[in-house]
Amino acid sequence: NNIRVAILGATGAVGTEIINLLIERDFPLSQLKLLASSRSAGKTIPFKNQSLTIEEVTENSFDDVDIVLASAGGSTSKKWAKTIIEAGAVMIDNSSAFRMDENVPLVVPEINPQDAQKHQGIIANPNCTTILMGVAIYPLHLIKPIKRIIVSTYQSASGAGARAMEEVKVQAQGILNGETPQPEILPYPLAFNLFPHNSPILDNHYCEEEMKMVNETRKIFGDDGIRISATCVRVPVLRAHSEAINLEFDQPFEVNEAKEAISQAEGVTVVDDWANNYFPMPIDATGKDDVLVGRIRQDISSDNNLEVWLCGDQIRKGAALNAVQIAELLVEKNWLK
Ligand code: A2P
Repeated sequence: NNIRVAILGATGAVGTEIINLLIERDFPLSQLKLLASSRSAGKTIPFKNQSLTIEEVTENSFDDVDIVLASAGGSTSKKWAKTIIEAGAVMIDNSSAFRMDENVPLVVPEINPQDAQKHQGIIANPNCTTILMGVAIYPLHLIKPIKRIIVSTYQSASGAGARAMEEVKVQAQGILNGETPQPEILPYPLAFNLFPHNSPILDNHYCEEEMKMVNETRKIFGDDGIRISATCVRVPVLRAHSEAINLEFDQPFEVNEAKEAISQAEGVTVVDDWANNYFPMPIDATGKDDVLVGRIRQDISSDNNLEVWLCGDQIRKGAALNAVQIAELLVEKNWLK
């Protein structure tokens, strides 16, 4: 064990899961540094049979580090990227800050592991909805290129961080007690409600989250020609996202062949029980590594289209797990430098 790791944002929803995954997957750590803001400095977090103290991130935090797993928001990633690179470490960044930068690989290990080799100190972890969709549909794209994707998402509170998850629980409790709780983290009440994704609206009337699915999917698949339209919605689920995806090919794709291809793929489990009307649900995807995929069916309105439904743990494969898998890939292939 010889890899020195730092987690930037170690107290957050994703940071906490990264700690669990490093233990669970027996990552070859020689040292683990937990970094956050001054708010959390001094707090302790159990790690194996020790207790690790959270440190405030400073100029010297990365001097003795090989890999930084960053999950503290885009502005924090931007602020520390140069320091991390100059210290000789590789940053695996969960934020959107560098994803579309042409010098930064955007990697889902099941799809484009080879891109990680080209890094210049930063590798970006894609948006959660993009990762989940990508692992489910890439096996089909390899057989017959996808021409167009229409996707609607049902996104959990976890995507907005640990405090948003807490807010939904408190809101639900309040509403059951006859109160009208005021939202603080999310813009509108989410308990017993839903709303179109709260990321900024762009000139084309898509929100940022929707355009992430468009641009990041093209970059990861290495195919700028795929046409994609997304509608992203926040729903009162705690930590797994769902997606309804319509895929268009330039010829028919036989359902059984599609199901077979998806079931053979890494990182995906097919849940497709038509007899019992049992398909992926957020409660089943929560805590799982695999993306659950089902309701794979012919689109009755178009010969060349398939419908697919998925659920995936937003914090695991949607963020922390994908980042840890990238770290494992760098170590295994000796691509750290
Ligand atoms: P802190 O607990 O000190 O605020 P989430 O996505 O769940 O909201 O978590 C965000 C993570 O990013 C937390 O660990 C948070 O630490 C950390 N963070 C937020 N702002 C900063 C900052 N300016 N510098 C370092 N870490 C930060």
